[in-house]
Amino acid sequence: AVDMSVDIGGVRLPSPMMTASGCAANGREIHRFIDITALGAFVTKSVKLDPVSGRGTPRMAETPSGMLNSIGLQGPGVRAFVEKDLAWLHSIGARVIVSIAGNTASEFARVARTIVRSRYASAVAALEVNISCPNVANRGLVFACDPAGAHKVLTLVREEVPRGLPMVAKLSPDVTDIVEIADVVLRAGAHGLTMINTTLGVAIDTDRLRPHLVAATGGLSGPAIRPTAVRAIWQVAGAMREGRIRAAPIVGVGGVRHGTDALELVAAGATAIQVGTAAFNDPSAPHRVGVELEQLVADRGFERLADVVGIAHERF
Ligand code: DOR
Repeated sequence: AVDMSVDIGGVRLPSPMMTASGCAANGREIHRFIDITALGAFVTKSVKLDPVSGRGTPRMAETPSGMLNSIGLQGPGVRAFVEKDLAWLHSIGARVIVSIAGNTASEFARVARTIVRSRYASAVAALEVNISCPNVANRGLVFACDPAGAHKVLTLVREEVPRGLPMVAKLSPDVTDIVEIADVVLRAGAHGLTMINTTLGVAIDTDRLRPHLVAATGGLSGPAIRPTAVRAIWQVAGAMREGRIRAAPIVGVGGVRHGTDALELVAAGATAIQVGTAAFNDPSAPHRVGVELEQLVADRGFERLADVVGIAHERF
């Protein structure tokens, strides 16, 4: 058997497979189809300080090349999240990565504080700091597109996380230089990077001749963005290998449906893999892709997944 365990900022996970934030709600629905305690981690929908009703509907649209969403970070707020969702995830023994979001840097920090001080904090394997939601009223609030803003968010959250709890920053592909943002968040103390969030798009209904989504713009996900994810991982992992930025684990996400897709992201430099959009059609996808990935790694003669991470950068 292949050693599929991964290390994210000092936390050992038995599997590289995770759900992608927002694509499996807070676990109850998908747990009817797959045992989420068998995943490396379950990643929650991003949690904000106060309840958010989100954008108007329709706020999801399928296109032939991917899914578009403008949910707008809908959620119950961090207190209800802790009492209802984190309590349940804790009770079933899941390893949880809590995705956090905020309108300001200090809001991110308050959400982090509430989670790490909650009585269910022992279920939390890491925090994923979502600085890259494309669906905010003022695009200026996409901290991942603003180096100074990104630095401030990560610095304030870092002050709240206890030793041993990794903080992973989720980056946007919609920047001219993703290596620059990676460098900024790593300097602010991020222990890892999740790449990538959705990329901004618009789909027009050709019968009504109006946008499909009420908000017009939305985040594009699914297979269409996989080469974009591979590119982002490739560029950042390359900079790490060349010593241009500090080395840290990369959690790869973007259009993964099959084991071969996951292997592509791993070979480009990802240590762990999240499955998002594919889980809507096939709730078993986060688990199945892990089984397929293990077989592909074994078929290629490797004993440890870690030996394949970034291998495509090597000269032969
Ligand atoms: O595509 C996305 N949609 N990415 C996010 O980070 C948040 C989400 C939403 O709630 O709009």
